[in-house]
Amino acid sequence: MLAAFVTQTSADDPLSALQVGERPAPEPPQGWVRVRVEAASLNHHDLWSLRGVGLPDERLPMTLGCDGAGVDEEGRDVLVHAVVTSPGWSGDDTLDPRRSLLSERHDGTLAAEVVVPARNVVPRPPEVSAAHAACLPTAWLTAYRMLLVQSGAAPGSTVLVQGAGGGVSTALVALARATGYRVWVTSRSEEKRQQALALGAHAAFASGERLPQQVDAVMETVGEATWAHSLRALRPGGTVVVSGATSGPAPGADLQRLFFRGLRVVGSTMGTREELVRLLDLLVATGVRPVVDRELPLGRAAEGFAAMAAGELFGKVVLRP
Ligand SMILES: NC(=O)c1ccc[n+]([C@@H]2O[C@H](COP(=O)([O-])OP(=O)(O)OC[C@H]3O[C@@H](n4cnc5c(N)ncnc54)[C@H](OP(=O)(O)O)[C@@H]3O)[C@@H](O)[C@H]2O)c1
Repeated sequence: MLAAFVTQTSADDPLSALQVGERPAPEPPQGWVRVRVEAASLNHHDLWSLRGVGLPDERLPMTLGCDGAGVDEEGRDVLVHAVVTSPGWSGDDTLDPRRSLLSERHDGTLAAEVVVPARNVVPRPPEVSAAHAACLPTAWLTAYRMLLVQSGAAPGSTVLVQGAGGGVSTALVALARATGYRVWVTSRSEEKRQQALALGAHAAFASGERLPQQVDAVMETVGEATWAHSLRALRPGGTVVVSGATSGPAPGADLQRLFFRGLRVVGSTMGTREELVRLLDLLVATGVRPVVDRELPLGRAAEGFAAMAAGELFGKVVLRP
């Protein structure tokens, strides 16, 4: 079957590590099921995988991709929950110390077929297209949990989203607007600031720009490049929720500001299957849908990866096997 995969990672030149070609169709182990993929989406996670982050040599070759929607063996329209918990785990999926995401230990979704544990299959409501459903399991679920579970900020609060164009950032802006927050956004690009305003942001600022007032919560996925600004942007007692560090993982902690102003730093990763189901319900109830920057056949996956690596995207790349 056609797949986008990696046989040798490259920390310095991740795009050179991407292969698109034939791989054997995966066989479902006991308790797993096969899904024929209609649409998949790219995440920054796939670029990290090409660099070898979270993907040691002994697990290669590996089919990439966390997110997919398609048809299961019974002919039902489904999407796949990307968090694979360890056998016997019964708590919050994201807190299982042995959990993995699809494409970390088990072949991923950038392929004609994927196999997943039976519980990871989620029915797709007819109101949500396969392409939109394929954007949800990583970027949108992460955004849902950051804003609506972890931030502690009630609707009506002012929330700052660092970065405008990313998969998680566009999801945060759209979800925050739809659920009653005042949403501010930063971006390095004037064009993306305008796109964020069109998506529903109440105000957009250049990265690092001084804000007119402090905010109740900051949604942080950029890391080093924006961290100091995130802490300065918070009102006393405010919360920064962090789920990524695209620009680098080692910012100065500014501990004095943290303790003196009583700030909260909350780490967040992906979400649970139950939260994914609620996210789908939220999309159906509000009409909100993911922003798709471009849709490509899987055979042209390299174009999508290159655009993501160059920071050119506003929203998600959907791939069709
Ligand atoms: N923990 C989790 O469960 C989880 C889940 C999903 C994603 N993540 C992580 O979150 C990050 C974002 O993922 P994604 O898929 O949304 O990636 P993406 O689509 O490639 O988006 C990257 C974002 O980072 C911003 N950005 C990058 N470099 C920047 C810089 N130097 N200064 C300011 N902004 C910068 C971009 O904003 P502008 O171009 O608008 O400036 C854009 O919003 C990744 O590191 C990913 O690994 C973690």
